[in-house]
Amino acid sequence: MIILKSKQEIAYMREAGKILAHVHEVLKDAIKPGLTTKELDELAEAEIKKHGAEAAFKGYHGYPASICTSINEEVVHGIPGLKTLKDGDIISIDVGTIYKGYYADAAKTHPVGVVSEELQQLMEVTRQSFYEGLKYCMEGNRLSDISHAIQSYVESYGFSVVRDLVGHGIGQNMHEDPQVPNYGSPGRGPRLVEGMVLAIEPMVNMGTHLVETLQDNWTVVTADGKPSAHYEHTVAITKDGPMILTSFS
Ligand code: MF3
Ligand code: CO
Repeated sequence: MIILKSKQEIAYMREAGKILAHVHEVLKDAIKPGLTTKELDELAEAEIKKHGAEAAFKGYHGYPASICTSINEEVVHGIPGLKTLKDGDIISIDVGTIYKGYYADAAKTHPVGVVSEELQQLMEVTRQSFYEGLKYCMEGNRLSDISHAIQSYVESYGFSVVRDLVGHGIGQNMHEDPQVPNYGSPGRGPRLVEGMVLAIEPMVNMGTHLVETLQDNWTVVTADGKPSAHYEHTVAITKDGPMILTSFS
């Protein structure tokens, strides 16, 4: 069941999203070779609290940290720890916040120092694939129009989209209906209407789309060990088109 949100509820999610956008800026500026992912987690948690929000991920199904930090072949849900960032790595950072009981969720992938051209392209295609999907976030379209646009764009560059993990509705829970796959034929699934709020989150692999989960039961990695990037925003469908809730503007 898809829970539609009122303007007031979307305003709360926008607050959660602004705090989240700020946290992403702080983390991006902190990234440098030698930093541990645990240091990023501590920084994120402090910033989230400082702005009167809560970290949505901490304790979620027992998840032990405030953010997810996934390096290179790690796709999502990497647990922050004593691993240090190295020049030439890419790091996907996923952050969730709760404000007045409402959730926001967004992820970005950043370079550490100087990265190869192919990694730069992987990150840029992943980011742009989100915006290709966003073009279809209009009332009257069908949900899988978003999915199809993302997949087509990604595959036109020879990259692949992860299928085992999907985007999702979001509101007073982090994960609500509907699921938002990043692949599939257009013209399927529910029609988009005002008040739907979706976390759209392409995960893009340089090689195979297949993924595995590590022994820690959280970290998802590519099956072939090739790198992966992630980009996510929380988006509200309005009469005037999509509104990205997890940004400043
Ligand atoms: N942002 C992630 C998602 O949409 C949630 C991270 S799982 C957690 O699936 F356990 F870390 F919270
Ligand atoms: Co999400």
